[in-house]
Amino acid sequence: MKYFSLVIGFVLFSACNQNTETAQGKWIVGTEQQKLEKIENQFRGFDNAMVETGYRYQELYWAGQDKNWEYAEYQLEKIQKAIENGLERRPKRAKSAAYFLTSVLPEMKKSLEKKDSLVFNKSFQDLTVNCNNCHAMEKVPYFSVKTPTDRQSPIKK
Ligand code: HEC
Repeated sequence: MKYFSLVIGFVLFSACNQNTETAQGKWIVGTEQQKLEKIENQFRGFDNAMVETGYRYQELYWAGQDKNWEYAEYQLEKIQKAIENGLERRPKRAKSAAYFLTSVLPEMKKSLEKKDSLVFNKSFQDLTVNCNNCHAMEKVPYFSVKTPTDRQSPIKK
């Protein structure tokens, strides 16, 4: 019996000990709360979603000019992912993005299925207008998006 209580005591002690033990990284340190704040801060807000979107928007354009439809579809999916993840971080922006996500991107996807440059270019114009519409709604109209003219991408067909 004495031995049994000792074992129980040890198990309880280890369990408590585990609960209070908090891992510390090299720079993600502090209380649980402070560590979450550090991680959230490093993930950033909506800005990095837009840096990624800006890059993928250009890639989408050149993919269309190359008639590289698989690459275009890939970039379109990643634009959607980048914006959805951005909205998870900044839900206040969701209202302005709703039309873009539920109508503009699906329309672009349909146009890619046609594998036709004229259809693509028309759809790309609509896309651009709607990038700017959201910028207006979000009161950042100075981020004025225009169809790319110079090509930097190493992905070429
Ligand atoms: C939610 C609506 C919304 C949509 C849709 C949207 N944007 Fe943005 N965009 C923003 C906001 C808000 C900012 C400013 C970000 C900030 O202040 O954190 C921004 C900023 C940017 C920036 C500057 C990013 C930087 O920090 O350098 C680029 C580039 C950009 N957008 C491109 C685009 C393109 C291209 C599209 C369309 C494919 C698009 N955006 C669609 C809301 C949107």
